[in-house]
This record gives sequence, structure tokens and C-alpha cells, in this order.
Amino acid sequence: MDKIAILDFGGQYAHLIANRIRRLGVYSEIRDCDTAAEELKEYKGLILSGGPQSVYDEGAPKCDINIFNLGIPILGICYGLHIMIQSLGGKVMPGKIKEYGKTTLKVLNKQDIFEGLSDAETVWMSHGDEAAGLPEGFEKTASTEPCVNAGIANFAKKLYAIQFHPEVTHTINGNKILENFLNICDAKKEWNLDFFIEKEIAAIKDKVGNKKVFMLISGGVDSTVAYSLIQNAIGTKNTYGLFVDTGFIRLHEREEVEEAYKKASIENVHFFYAADKFFGALKEVYDPETKRKIIGDKFIEIQKIIADELKLNPEEWLLGQGTIYPDTIETGGTRHADKIKTHHNRVEQIRQLIEAGKIIEPLTQLYKDEVREVGTKLGLPDSIVWRHPFPGPGLAVRCLCADKIDYPENHEALEQEINDFIAKYKLTGKILPIKSVGVQGDARTYKHPFLLAMHKDTNRDWDMLETVSTEITNRFGSINRVLLKLHPRGIVSMNVKPGYLTKERIELLQRADFRVTQFIKYHKNYKDIWQFPTVLLPLSLNDKHGECIVLRPVNSEEAMTANFYRMQWKWVDELTEGFRELPEIDGVFYDITNKPPATIEWE
Ligand code: XMP
Repeated sequence: MDKIAILDFGGQYAHLIANRIRRLGVYSEIRDCDTAAEELKEYKGLILSGGPQSVYDEGAPKCDINIFNLGIPILGICYGLHIMIQSLGGKVMPGKIKEYGKTTLKVLNKQDIFEGLSDAETVWMSHGDEAAGLPEGFEKTASTEPCVNAGIANFAKKLYAIQFHPEVTHTINGNKILENFLNICDAKKEWNLDFFIEKEIAAIKDKVGNKKVFMLISGGVDSTVAYSLIQNAIGTKNTYGLFVDTGFIRLHEREEVEEAYKKASIENVHFFYAADKFFGALKEVYDPETKRKIIGDKFIEIQKIIADELKLNPEEWLLGQGTIYPDTIETGGTRHADKIKTHHNRVEQIRQLIEAGKIIEPLTQLYKDEVREVGTKLGLPDSIVWRHPFPGPGLAVRCLCADKIDYPENHEALEQEINDFIAKYKLTGKILPIKSVGVQGDARTYKHPFLLAMHKDTNRDWDMLETVSTEITNRFGSINRVLLKLHPRGIVSMNVKPGYLTKERIELLQRADFRVTQFIKYHKNYKDIWQFPTVLLPLSLNDKHGECIVLRPVNSEEAMTANFYRMQWKWVDELTEGFRELPEIDGVFYDITNKPPATIEWE
């Protein structure tokens, strides 16, 4: 099958490019940026991704210069443009101004990748550097006001490069440009999910042979689709599905999953209660990564207990997993991606099993939207296919743990500085004495949230709040999240109520989460929101002894980036009002941070 390689220079959007190319019908793969040209010969075209560095920085990622002599078409995007120019003898320099966001592109040459475009196009930019001198054989094909060489080409060699990002939806004709490139590559449109299913079923049969598959399933879309695909390949009798009640599942989760599986004719699923084991292992654990590791290891331990009980011979069984593409990237699965967090299905023991060929993961190449489509094609009901994603470690990553107050250095002075900065928006705020996980500049952070309070006469304006949130996290290095206070009116004092993962705290969070889910289902809002974590913070307010709740609705396409969801204000009020009835809840906040700089979950 014809395929395109995306060389990954560390940009968060490399996978988005891959996803777009597949959506256009051509199979694509992400490869390390310095893969040897020899190994790239088999592709019909190469795309050089963006990346966070400058090409002239020491240690900046490079590519094998021989790729430009392979004779296959190449498209450079942003950093990809810079690296193409630098590799071929041109010059890259910091631009006069940095360009971020939407801008108008003047198209100067409508051949090849710009075929069918208008003279002026809306495109999306995110760069500080630009091409200052073009290599021999290249010409300018498009410009923006500040960036002269926003599009360049060496038509004879089929080398093209653009400074803007065609893969983001803000570039209105981005898909057209990518499609033009695929035509130049003469790549056949053979990739679709029917083809994927057919190919994967054959691959599963091949890999499993006369063995069987044992799989932990959560009732979520990824593991259910993976299990269903495996059952389609090797039959229900050769699979054993295990749903583990870790104690961190949602209220009534087991009943809902049982019901949905019955509807979907998914068979051979068994349920195992292990909450006491998990709570026992997590006693007095506060650190997020330690929590994740313990949970991952416990899953494996339980799986071993069950395997022993069932007397499964390890030589006859493989372990199935519902891992999807972004899970592997964020664990540092590709070389230039930083480790954001350890996914429960990428802990050390699992890595060893992967190396030993004992793991089967049919969805590792797919994005969430593709997994959903595969689910529908396999006949799974909407109640499974459109379920909000739920992390493997469950409510454990939504129940923040802390044992003492934790402020950044000089927090009072910093708080004053932030307050001076936001006074123009009629807002005030406080730094919270706890930390949460985030992702900034493609790297993991562990920093403080800032809690905003509106004056009585401040406009309730999501645009303004997004601007403030972005400005605060960009400007103040110790802050990676911004929250809006919905309740109570004034905060006089804040205290950390020492708390780790206990049954009582999780039960409180389960009730809060249930309330939120019922609320959005009632308002037929469930499908508009991509995911809606409800988070419990060990924070007591105004000398009370309760905790705080954070509402974290987000929209996202593939979980790598996300925008906070803008709920109708009357519903925000209604939801808040409901929480005021709960005596254990001192405060209700709304997370108004995008990803990056925050992650979707809090950990
Ligand atoms: P973050 O918090 O990194 O999450 O923005 C991105 C997406 O991944 C989910 N998530 C997980 N899913 N195992 C999973 O199966 C995990 O350990 C895990 N951690 C986060 C998260 O809910 C969101 O959809």
C-alpha cells in the first residue's frame, strides 16, 4: 500500500498531520526525524513536521540530508521548512516579529501544492524564525505581511515548504494543500477503516495462532473496541475479558458496562472486585507518578492472580491491551516526545512483555476518532462508542493527594504581582497551595493552579477568561493552570486537608462525578463535550473541614491538545447550586486552562 512518512521533529502536531493524511485516504506513519534516507525509500512522500526548537540551536533535531536526493516529493512544515532550507544551503533567521495565530497568505504561484487556492488564503502561523535566504533552485510561492517566504518550492525536485500549519483547522484550505501534495506524490487512496479492520483481523489471527487472548477491559471505547476486534478475529471462546473493579470506577459503572456488553454481544467477560487491594497499596501515597506506577503494577498483579486461578499456561496466552496511538507518544514512546506521564499500559513490566512478544495491541496506530469509527463498523452501540474517555487509573487521577501546604517560593509577592497584572480585567485571585500536572513546551510540568474570582460587575465572558488564563500561564512560570471560582463568594483562608486515596474520598468524588454526568446527560450536552473530569482537591476553605471540587469539561480531537469547554452560564450556575447542598464540599471551581499548558487530568 502506498504510504507517507511524517518525520517527527518533536512538534505536538506531527500526529495531527498523520491523522489528516489518513483521513484523506492515504496510510501514514510517524518516523524519527533522523531516520536514514535508505529506510525512507519505500514511502511515496515525506512530510517534515514542525518542532519547538530553532534549527540553529545547539542539539536541534536534524534529518539525514540524503532524503533530499531520494527523488520523492517532500513537504516541509514550519520547522520542516527551516530544516529543508538549512540542509540545502539557505539561511534561517529569527523573523522581525513572531507570528502566532490566524493571518492572510498571499498566494504567488498556484502550481502544485497551491493548486485551486485563491489569491488570499486564511492560514495559521506559529513561528519566530523564517527563511531569510533560499537555496539554489528554490523560489518564493507565498508570503504574509511579516513573512516574505511563507511558501517556497523547488518545482523541478518536487521539494515544497510552508511556514504555516495546514494540519490545523484554522488554516481554511489546509486539507486542500495536503491533498495536492498527495496527488504530487501519486499516492493511491487505499487507506480506510474497513481496510484496517480486515488487515488487523488477519494480523491478530496470525500473531495469536493457536493461542488465546486474556485482556483487562474497562468498558471504555478503546479496550472494548480492541476486545471486540480480537473476538471477531479468533472467536469468543478463545478470549477471556476481565473487568477489574479497582475501587476507582464511577458510580454504577459495573452495571452499565454489563448492560452495554450484553447489547453489543460481547461475551466471555468476567468481573473481579479488587478495591481493597488497590486502596491498601496506595496508603499514604501522594506523588502522582508513584500513584500511577502502583496502580499499573497492581493491575498486572491481579491479572496474574486471575491467570493462576484459571491455570492459564503463559505459553498458551497473550495479553491484549486497548492502547491507542497518543498513549504511546505521551509516555515518551517516540524519541523526541518528552515523557508527560506513564500510562498504566506502558509500565516497565508491560514493556518487558511487549519485548517478549506476549502483548497484542490492535489499536496502537489509531487515533480516538478512528477507534470510534471502527467501533461503529463492528456494530457496537453508541453508548459504548461515544462514551467519554476514562483513564485506566480512573478516579485515582482525579482525586488529588497532598499532605501539607505547598506554595511556590515568595508566593505572597508573586500573588500580588499576578493580581496587579489582572486588575485591568476586574479580577482578583489566589495561588492554590497544591500542585497539578501540566504540559508546556512539549514537556511535563508539576506546578500551581491560580484561582480567579470575579468582581460583582465583571462580565461573564469566556473569551476574556481564556485570554487571562493564557496570559497568566505564559507570563508566570510557577503557574500551569487557571481556575474560576464559582463558590463560595469570598475566600478568607485556605488549608490543605491532608488526604490520599481513601475509600471515603473516592466515594465523595464518585457522587460528585455522578451528579455532573447525570446533569449533562439530562441537558443533552453529553456528546458536545469530549470529556468531563470532576476533580477532588484536598483543600478546605474558610476554617471549614471539607474539600473542593473542580469542573473540568474539555473539547478535544485526539487528547493531545484540548480546549476548556464553554458551558452555558445558566447551567454553570445550576450545577454549582447542586454542589452547595453537599456538606463535604467547601468550594466549586471551573478549570479554564487549555492543554497545553495544563493536561486534561489533574493527577
Ligand atoms: P491528559 O491528562 O494527559 O490526558 O491530558 C489525555 C487523555 O488520556 C487520558 N488518560 C489516560 N488514559 N490511561 C488511560 O487509558 C492513563 O493512565 C491515562 N491518563 C490519562 C485522559 O483521561 C485524557 O482523555
